[in-house]
Amino acid sequence: MQESSLNALILQLLGMIITEISLATAILSRGDLLAIPTETVYGLAANAFDGAAVAKIYQAKNRPQFNPLILHSNSLERFKAWGIELPEKALKLAAAFSPGPITFVVPKSALIPDIVTAGHATVAIRIPNHALCLALLAELDFPVAAPSANKSGSISPTTAQHVFEQFGESIGGILDGGPCQIGLESTIVSFTAEKPKLLRLGGLSLESIENVLGEKLDTSGLINNDNPEAPGMLSRHYAPQTPLYLDTAENHLEQVSYEEMAFIGFNESHPKIPKKQQILLSKKGNYAEAAQQLFAAIRRADALNQKIIIATLLPEEDLGRAINDRLRRAAIK
Ligand code: TXA
Ligand code: MG
Repeated sequence: MQESSLNALILQLLGMIITEISLATAILSRGDLLAIPTETVYGLAANAFDGAAVAKIYQAKNRPQFNPLILHSNSLERFKAWGIELPEKALKLAAAFSPGPITFVVPKSALIPDIVTAGHATVAIRIPNHALCLALLAELDFPVAAPSANKSGSISPTTAQHVFEQFGESIGGILDGGPCQIGLESTIVSFTAEKPKLLRLGGLSLESIENVLGEKLDTSGLINNDNPEAPGMLSRHYAPQTPLYLDTAENHLEQVSYEEMAFIGFNESHPKIPKKQQILLSKKGNYAEAAQQLFAAIRRADALNQKIIIATLLPEEDLGRAINDRLRRAAIK
C-alpha cells in the first residue's frame, strides 16, 4: 500500500475524515466546524445562522475579526429566501458561471449575523461547483460561512490531508471530496456600485467575466496589494516556511548554491538547480493545470527543506494573473 493511501486510511479510522453527508450534516447542525470540499479550495464551514459556531471559525484560523466570511449555499433561490438578491449584472454572471469559482459581494440582509460580514453592510455569497458539497448544502436549512480551511496567513488546502495537517483533531471533521479541481480561491466581484469591481483575482479569469458582461471591470481595488475592500487580501499571505523569491537563482548565488535551492516554474525547468528539487506547474503550459497544482507545489517545495525557493511568474493573462497574485503574496518582497 502506498504511503498516501495508508495515511488516508489511518485518518479515516481516527474518524476525522468522513464521506457521509448524514455525518457532515450532524456536525454542522450541532454547531461544530466541518471542513468541506469545493472546486476551488477546502473551506472551514459553520452554520452561518449560529453566531457561536461562526466565532469558532475565527478562533480556529486565528483570523482577524475584521475579515468577513463568504456564505455558501446550493442555489440563488435559497439566498433569495434569506433576503439576499443579486443585481442584474451579477445575475448574468451567475447564469454563466454559477455553480462555479465566482463570489458576489452584494448588500447584506438582516438575517445574516454581523459576525459573518465582520460588520460590513455587504455580504459575499457563492455556489461552489462540487457535487458532494452541493449535496451537503442542499440538505442544510442554513447557509454555511466558510473561509479557506487554513490558519490565517498560510497556504489554502486543496486536499483533505492538507486540512488535517493544519487542524488535526481540533475541528469537528473533514468531508473528503478528493483533490480540488480548480485549486485557486474564487474570483470576488463586488456589485455595490454601477460598475462591477474586482476584489480578488481567482479561479475564474478576468477575461471570462468581462466577455460575458460585455464591459471592463473596475480593477482599481487591486492596485493596492493590501486591498482594504477585501480585507483578507493582505500582501503577505500564502507564506511557506522557506523564503520564496520571485527572482533569478543567479541573484542569490553569493549566499546560496544551486544545490540548496528549490524551484517552482510554469513549464520550463531551470538549467542549474538539481532536477529533483524542481516542480513544474504544467509541462504543457496549461493555465488551468498550473492553477490546480499551485498550492500543493508550494507545500512540496517547502517540504524539500532547501535554503530558498526560486519561483517564476507566468504570463499576465487568463489564470496566469491569479497564479501570479498568489505567488507574489507567498514571496519575500
Ligand atoms: O474559493 C473560495 O472563495 C474559498 C472557498 C472555501 O469557497 N473561500 C475563501 O474564503 O477563499 P476566504 O475567507 O479565505 O477569503 C474570502 C475573501 C477574504 O479576502 C474576505 O476579506 C473577502 O473574501 N470578503 C468576504 N466578505 C466580503 C465582503 N462583504 N466584502 C468584501 N470582501 C469580502
Ligand atoms: Mg483564505
